[in-house]
Amino acid sequence: MGLFITFEGPEGSGKSTQARLLYERIQALGYPVILTREPGGTRISELIRRILVDLRHTEMAPTTETLLFSAARAQLVSELVRPYLNTGGIVLCDRYADSTFAYQGYGLGRDLDELHAITTIATGGLQPDLTFYLDLDVEAGLQRKRWARDRGSEASKAVSSSGPPAEWNRLDARDLAYHQRVAAGFAELIRNNPERWRRCSAEQPLDQLAEQIFAAVEPILERVARLEPH
Ligand code: TYD
Repeated sequence: MGLFITFEGPEGSGKSTQARLLYERIQALGYPVILTREPGGTRISELIRRILVDLRHTEMAPTTETLLFSAARAQLVSELVRPYLNTGGIVLCDRYADSTFAYQGYGLGRDLDELHAITTIATGGLQPDLTFYLDLDVEAGLQRKRWARDRGSEASKAVSSSGPPAEWNRLDARDLAYHQRVAAGFAELIRNNPERWRRCSAEQPLDQLAEQIFAAVEPILERVARLEPH
């Protein structure tokens, strides 16, 4: 069984950039690795993502939202994550089930035990080996994302230096109090399970943060066999 590493954090914390930097570094070392994201990562899950982030879908009920995130996750886990882990590879995922507890649980007030049951159905109980929390003041993060939206694609690249530009979506558009409940929720999740989490400041320079993340991953890379050189 390979290695499953996830990235969490508030909007605009630069998770996607850090996930990509780690991916490139691990790949350059010759390890089998894939990078994916939630919601999304497979054809079906990306279609579900479009429904979830659409700014027009203001009428979406919290239960619908929770089940759609979970449906996207079920597809990603069964189609991509589990099969790749079973080959002994490393899976990096930009957000995972912790986001459901933080956003739908602490943010929207869904019952945490219910979320636990739904998440177990969706993932078969698959837990990350390691989760990075990129810590950033909620207001600062939303500001970064709004700034990217208002300044167009060039500025978006500053937030997300690779991959698609940051988008302003239905879930970002929720009020500050919601995003603050989410951040407090993540803090609680970290307190409940400190050995799985690494909390890193997202306010430090990008390269320094990337070094901190790699330093935490390096010791466990030995669990994975490198690819044979061609
Ligand atoms: P995205 O643009 O990918 O945001 P980010 O760059 O911050 O990851 O949009 C994903 C949004 O979905 C983000 O606001 C967090 C939210 N989300 C949930 O509410 N529940 C979940 O289970 C997941 C995976 C994401």
